[in-house]
Amino acid sequence: MARIQTDVLILGSGIAGLTLAIKTAKANPARRVLVLTKTVEGESNTRYAQGGVAAVWDKENDNYLKHVEDTLDAGDGLCKREVVEIVVQEGPQRVQELIEWGARFDKEKGSGSYDLAREGGHSEHRILHYKDLTGWEMQRTIMEEAQRYPNIEVLEHYFALDLITQHHLGRMVIRVTPGIECFGCYALNKQNHEIDTILSRVTVVCTGGAGQVYKSTTNPVIASGDGIAMTYRAKGRVENMEFVQFHPTSLYNPAGENPSFLVSEAVRGFGAILKSAEGEEFMHLYDERLSLAPRDIVARAIDSEMKKRGTDCMYLDCRHLDKAAFTAHFPTIYDKCLSQGIDPMKDLIPVVPACHYMCGGIWVDEHGRSSIMRLYAAGECSSTGLHGANRLASNSLLEAMVFAHRIYLDIQDKLEDWNFQDNVPDWNAEGTTDPKEMVLITQSIKELKDVMSYYVGIVRSNVRLKRALDRLFLLYQETEELYRNTTISPQLMELRNLITIAYLITRSAAHRRESRGLHFTTDYPDKLPFEEYSVL
Ligand code: FAD
Ligand code: SIN
Repeated sequence: MARIQTDVLILGSGIAGLTLAIKTAKANPARRVLVLTKTVEGESNTRYAQGGVAAVWDKENDNYLKHVEDTLDAGDGLCKREVVEIVVQEGPQRVQELIEWGARFDKEKGSGSYDLAREGGHSEHRILHYKDLTGWEMQRTIMEEAQRYPNIEVLEHYFALDLITQHHLGRMVIRVTPGIECFGCYALNKQNHEIDTILSRVTVVCTGGAGQVYKSTTNPVIASGDGIAMTYRAKGRVENMEFVQFHPTSLYNPAGENPSFLVSEAVRGFGAILKSAEGEEFMHLYDERLSLAPRDIVARAIDSEMKKRGTDCMYLDCRHLDKAAFTAHFPTIYDKCLSQGIDPMKDLIPVVPACHYMCGGIWVDEHGRSSIMRLYAAGECSSTGLHGANRLASNSLLEAMVFAHRIYLDIQDKLEDWNFQDNVPDWNAEGTTDPKEMVLITQSIKELKDVMSYYVGIVRSNVRLKRALDRLFLLYQETEELYRNTTISPQLMELRNLITIAYLITRSAAHRRESRGLHFTTDYPDKLPFEEYSVL
C-alpha cells in the first residue's frame, strides 16, 4: 500500500485529462503531474470518436453566432448561453494548439483548406476530422505530446476508487456540509492488487462517460461513470443526468457487440439517407431537417418507426454516393460493414440507436471547478452547461479541450496555497475476503443494463421509471452487501458505480415532469413553460 504525493492528480487519459496534463506540466516544470488511467493510456472514449471536432473555421461562410445558435437549439432551452459562447469562441484556438502538437485533420485536395464536414443540427460545414478516425488521431497526438514532459507520469492499470475528503478524516460530511475539500484519491493498483493513497494539491476528474449503463452503447467498456459516481459519493453536486444521448445510428449486429460500432453522423452529413427495409424515407414525418435533424429527434424517429413496424433496425442508404469519395472519408466504417457482409455501395446499412453520450454529470462552473474545493472536472464526466438537454454533434471534444485549458489557467496561482493533507489514513480492507462467485457481479451488471434499457431508454413513463427504481434498489442493497464483505475488484467497483449512475439517471428522469431534449416521457409529452422548468 503505497502513499504517493503529486501536485496535480488527473483521473483519466482521454482528451480532457491529457490536454490538462500537457498544459500544466509545460507551465510548471518543477511540479509533478500524475495521470491515473484504469487500463492503458490510449483506451478512452476519445480514441473512438469518428465524426470530428466542431469549430468555426471557415470565417467566410460561418461565424460564432451560428455555432452558438445551433448549440442552443440542440440544447432545447437548457444550455447556459455564456458557457456556449465561451466554448464556441475559445474552441478554434484549442483546435489550433492541437494542430501545432501534430494532429492531422483532412484537407481538401487543391485548395489545401481543411475539409469541413457537416453533422446533424449544424447549419454549416464546421467539423474538422481525420477520415473516420478523428479520435484515434487526437489520442495519438496528445499521448505523443505528453511524452515530451518528464514531469508528467501516467500510471496505467490504476483504478481510482474514491475521492478523499474530510469524511476520511473521521468528520461527518453530508451534501450540505460547507467547505468540503478533496485531498486526492484511493486507487487500486491492478497489477499488485494493492490500494494506494494518492495525495494531491488538486484533483481533476476526467473519467469520461457512462454508456456501459445500457445494454447497447457505442462507449468502450471503460465508460462506467466512475468519476461521476465517486464525486456523488463524496457529496459533490451532480446534475442533468436524465439527458442521456442515444446515437441514432449504431451498426445493427444481431449477434450483439459491446461496444456497438458507430456509423458516424458524418455519413448522413455526406448524403446518406435514413430509410425503411422497403426503401421508404420516413424522416419527413418527424423534422424538416430530415436525416440531419438533431440527434434526439432522429433517435426517437428511428425508435418510433421500429416499434410501429415491429422491426429490429432501420437503414442508412449510401448506395447513391460516390464509392471512391465514400471509402476515402469512411474507410473504417466501410471495412466494418464489409466484415459483416454488408456492402454500403450495394446494400442498405442496418442501424439502431445506442447509448452514446452523457450530457449531465459533475456540476462545474465556467472554470471547471466542482462544488468540492480542490476538485475540478472536465470532459464528458462534467456538466458545464454547454449541452443543456441535448449535445450538438462534435461539441464534446471541443468542450473537453476548452475546459482543460480553463482549469489549467485557474489552478496556476492556487497550487502553492493548497497543501498536502498528511493525516489521511490508508484504505481499510479489514474483514473482507476474496469474492467466491464472480458471477454474482457479472449477473448484476447484466440485470442493471436490462433495467436501464427496458425502462429508462429513449421513451420513458412513470410506470417504467418506478419499476426501474424498485429494481435498482434491490441491486443496490445486494451490491453494498458484497462491497462490505468482499475485497475490492474493478468489476465490483464498476458495478457499484454503474448502479449509482443508473439511480441518478432514473431519479432525475422521474423528477422532470416534462419532455425536453433527450428526455421524453409519455406521461408528460410537452415542455413546461420556462418559469416552471428552469427551477427543476
Ligand atoms: P475519455 O476519453 O473517455 O477518457 C476517460 C479516461 O478516464 C480514460 O482514460 C479512462 O481509462 C479513465 N478512467 C475512467 N474511469 C477511471 C477510473 N476509475 N480510474 C482511472 N481512470 C479512469 N465527440 C465529438 O466531439 N466528436 C465525435 O466525433 C465523437 N465521436 C464519438 C464516437 C464514439 C464511438 C464515442 C464513444 C464517442 C464519441 N464522441 C465524440 C464523444 C467523445 O469522444 C467523448 O465525449 C470524449 O472523448 C470524452 O473525453 P474525456 O477525456 O472526457 O473522456
Ligand atoms: C459521430 O461521428 O456521429 C459522433 C459525433 C459525436 O458524437 O459528436
